[in-house]
Amino acid sequence: MVKISLAKGINWVGVVDWNIRNFHSYVTKRGSTYNAYLIEDEKTALVDTVKHEFSNELISKITQIVAPLKIDYIIVNHVEMDHSSSLPVMAKCAKNATIIASQRGKDAIIEHYGSDFSIETVKTGDQLKLGKRTLQFVEAPMLHWPDSMFTYVVEDRILMSNDAFGQHFASSKRFDDEVEAHVLMEEAKIYYANILMPLASLIARKLEEVTKMGIPIEVIAPSHGIIWRSDPSKIIKAYSDWSSGVSKKRVVIVFDTMWGSTDKMARAIEEGIASQGIDVKLLKLQATNRTEAMTEILDAKAVVVGSPTLNNGMFPTLGSFLTYATGLKPKGKLWGFFGSYGWGGGAVRGMIEMAQKAGFEVHEQSVEVKYVPEQKDLKKCFEFGRQIAMKIKA
Ligand code: FEO
Repeated sequence: MVKISLAKGINWVGVVDWNIRNFHSYVTKRGSTYNAYLIEDEKTALVDTVKHEFSNELISKITQIVAPLKIDYIIVNHVEMDHSSSLPVMAKCAKNATIIASQRGKDAIIEHYGSDFSIETVKTGDQLKLGKRTLQFVEAPMLHWPDSMFTYVVEDRILMSNDAFGQHFASSKRFDDEVEAHVLMEEAKIYYANILMPLASLIARKLEEVTKMGIPIEVIAPSHGIIWRSDPSKIIKAYSDWSSGVSKKRVVIVFDTMWGSTDKMARAIEEGIASQGIDVKLLKLQATNRTEAMTEILDAKAVVVGSPTLNNGMFPTLGSFLTYATGLKPKGKLWGFFGSYGWGGGAVRGMIEMAQKAGFEVHEQSVEVKYVPEQKDLKKCFEFGRQIAMKIKA
């Protein structure tokens, strides 16, 4: 096995999940990786494990570097099962190892796998001497579970950030200078929009806290995807922008259509928005997915959502999209709604109710058309789009 080294004695022993396409409802078009790191010093530490189905591969990689019985510590930065479900089998192989986790991590390990483990808890600022090397821990609660923490290798200036700064990106390459930069940033943005978006304020505070701790970071080694070694400040700056809600004067229209009426309305609204010089993108849910839609929404100023009425309610694709979107809680955006119906209506009303319940800012007007839009209806749609554009311009 060719060692994949982050620094002398620090090796990647993770696995590549080439074929995963759905990660708890996030469409992972490029697969993913579960990264684990082995640190050899006078004491040996394994940072994180991998998804259970890959546990043999993890153990095989470790064994080619060091006998598992020589592992002294297994650091559990996060107990979500993509990182911890190999822990029971790993702990059996590394039976001399002590597990290190945050207090909430310890609780979650016991709640997932029982209490048959030797676990020591750490908190922010605690250090663990491995020999020449020191590990320092930074709790990162709700980034994105209560138990989450970062492990920092002091002498090598490597931040093992678990889910933060990751990407669902399967590749035979491990480092940022080995892959196409625009693909890497695209995947990092998709990941942020679909996992970390609701935690924007916590992320901003954590970035500030880490900056104040004055810990220099030369490498960011997340638990998914590519390792940032050439210029970690690039992803830190991107997180800073995304978490502070920096948005472009851009509108995203997300809609679906049954017999083409809502489609015609979407196009007229798009023309109204574009007439004000505002960039606008149309996403039909039959041709896109919620993961792509949320990524487009991340840095947009307004979102306009359209649905035909089916059985007195919104179209199922819109129901799914809005359930996902309201859960991710994008901040500081204007939301507008439109739709079509045959007799009783209900789609637009239902969508507005969902948005208001989620605390979204909803544009005071909406547009509804019975059956097929006529010219006068399309003019109304154009005007609706124009007004939304004017509002975000202001
Ligand atoms: Fe990659 Fe929250 O697990």
